[in-house]
Amino acid sequence: MSPESTRLQGRTALVTGSTGGLGVAIAKALAAEGARVIVTGRNKVRGDAVVADIRSAGGGADFVAADLGAGEDEIRRLATAAGDVDILVNNAGVWSSPEPTANITEATLLESYRANVVGPFLLTGALAPAMVARGRGAVVNIGSITGLIGGDKSALYNSTKAAVHSLTKSWAAEYGPAGVRVNAVAPGPIATERAAEAADHVAPVLARIPSRRMSTPEEVAAAVVFLAGDDAANIHGAVLSVDGGWAAV
Ligand SMILES: NC(=O)c1ccc[n+]([C@@H]2O[C@H](COP(=O)([O-])OP(=O)(O)OC[C@H]3O[C@@H](n4cnc5c(N)ncnc54)[C@H](OP(=O)(O)O)[C@@H]3O)[C@@H](O)[C@H]2O)c1
Repeated sequence: MSPESTRLQGRTALVTGSTGGLGVAIAKALAAEGARVIVTGRNKVRGDAVVADIRSAGGGADFVAADLGAGEDEIRRLATAAGDVDILVNNAGVWSSPEPTANITEATLLESYRANVVGPFLLTGALAPAMVARGRGAVVNIGSITGLIGGDKSALYNSTKAAVHSLTKSWAAEYGPAGVRVNAVAPGPIATERAAEAADHVAPVLARIPSRRMSTPEEVAAAVVFLAGDDAANIHGAVLSVDGGWAAV
């Protein structure tokens, strides 16, 4: 089977955290539009399986192992291995379960910020200049509804995602004039295999939001494909909610 569409033919997309969860759906959706996808994460077994799935569906993909929390040498190594990247999706991130601020140690704080903020910051800094030099490119950051609102005992995770939204707007200002668009998707709860972990936390919310349900990974991936492609040619610095209406009500 060949890719379903050719909207992203000839482009290379790097999707962080594409060894599991939402990132797998994003990698597959970009490949289905013709992009060659670089799958990355720490787990080679799961990464190789995603690559095999994409190839067996007629798409192009390769795996590069990297730990985005390991600092700038590791991130530079990933960027070098990736080569010319046209689409960067900063998806990898870690969720922190609700915890009183006073209980959060410096180590936990730094671990979360390393994965959710420092990693995307350094990787974008490593890849965007080459996009600027070519005069085109797209970066899509995965933020969260939690970056748009406050949350009881959620200061850590919510603040990392607010930082992702803020970076999206500053990078739009920095890179947009050179032809590189930077946008974000802000998902609400997503029905991934790990959704059960947050089920108690999100149940009261789902009961009152317009759609009354979580998003599927494919619904969030569709928004990423839109922002990465030419249909979004004049969209810069947007934070697109895919949250069943949570942010609106
Ligand atoms: N799930 C939700 O309901 C939800 C809602 C809103 C926003 N989001 C956001 O969506 C994104 C994906 O979430 P998810 O639910 O799909 O998470 P997930 O199932 O836990 O998957 C996280 C992915 O990130 C990778 N990853 C984590 N730490 C990493 C590190 N230090 N270095 C490299 N890769 C790392 C993991 O790969 P390895 O294990 O192979 O390293 C995995 O592929 C995150 O940014 C999250 O904040 C999720």
